[in-house]
Amino acid sequence: MLVLGVESSCDEMAAAVVRDGREILSSCVHGQADVHGPYGGVVPELASRDHTRAVSRVVANALSEAGLAPEQLDGVAVTAGPGLVGSLLVGLSFGKALAYRMGLPVVGVHHLEGHLAATALAAPDLEPPYVGLVISGGHTALYRIESGRPPRLLGQTRDDAVGEAFDKVARLLGLPYPGGPAVSAAARAGSEVALKFPRPLLDRAGFDFSYSGLKTAVALEVERRGELSEEERADIAASFEAAAVEPLVVKARRALEAEGVGALAVVGGVAANRRLREEMGRAASAMGFRAVFPPSDLCTDNAAMIAAAGSALLARGEAHGLDLNSFSRVPVGSAPWSSGGAA
Ligand code: KG4
Ligand code: ZN
Repeated sequence: MLVLGVESSCDEMAAAVVRDGREILSSCVHGQADVHGPYGGVVPELASRDHTRAVSRVVANALSEAGLAPEQLDGVAVTAGPGLVGSLLVGLSFGKALAYRMGLPVVGVHHLEGHLAATALAAPDLEPPYVGLVISGGHTALYRIESGRPPRLLGQTRDDAVGEAFDKVARLLGLPYPGGPAVSAAARAGSEVALKFPRPLLDRAGFDFSYSGLKTAVALEVERRGELSEEERADIAASFEAAAVEPLVVKARRALEAEGVGALAVVGGVAANRRLREEMGRAASAMGFRAVFPPSDLCTDNAAMIAAAGSALLARGEAHGLDLNSFSRVPVGSAPWSSGGAA
């Protein structure tokens, strides 16, 4: 089965072709760092306008890199939510129009279930049950993953997402957008013990996270110092990164123990973080669990993960009508687009 995936939930327009839910034939991503860079964050209206300009070219590239004509496809999978509604609508409308024109089934995919499906692409041998840690610009959550059932939420952030904290700290430090990779690069030259930033909820039972207190602590430190030297900037970045990563490792370990499972999949943009990969890798060796980290280009937003998740839905006979709509907020495991309407 050949499925075209289209993803445009935030500031990336992406298209990909995946065979049988496992084999990536092509994966194209058009980023917008140049569009949002001057503003230090995503400007939704500019994002959807740029998507409109890029969508047909990105989809055409994905098909030509896969060596396919549209009539050879078996289905189209598009992200329906959560995300920026204006951005989502561009990929969704294009996907629906293409499916209608070619007489193909179209299926709406939950963005976070897409991130989790990157695991199937990176580690096809990983059998559920396992724990999924989804860490992105909008989400920080732990799920129990079982075959044939929606992911079960174990815990999540009570305020900011960890990726959002990276992006805000980048802005405070005068580092370029997107913030995560910039903070991580700056941290390499700094000392993680230079400053002791808070690790909220670390000692509290359960699997919830909190990142707004950490962000505020960094803001106060930057304000107190005024003009930052290169060295100070690196030390703050390294100390922040250590404080952001530690709760992810501790709570994931706790969830694995509580759920009695031996494998963890880490997905979403922040899963590209080098320090997190190292620390989780060390925890995995010490505790004897398997840690799966998809390659970075499958962690940050991409359409191969959407095609993979959509392939599983299409294989189960699921397909949505042309009234398929986009939704800004959608709990994992629900698919409000199946019945139409907007939110
Ligand atoms: O999954 P993603 O591409 O988009 C969303 O669904 O949000 O995640 C983007 C987030 C951004 O907050 C970005 O700063 C963060 O992932 N990120 C990183 C790294 N690469 C991307 N955070 C820390 N270290 C990185 N290397
Ligand atoms: Zn994402």
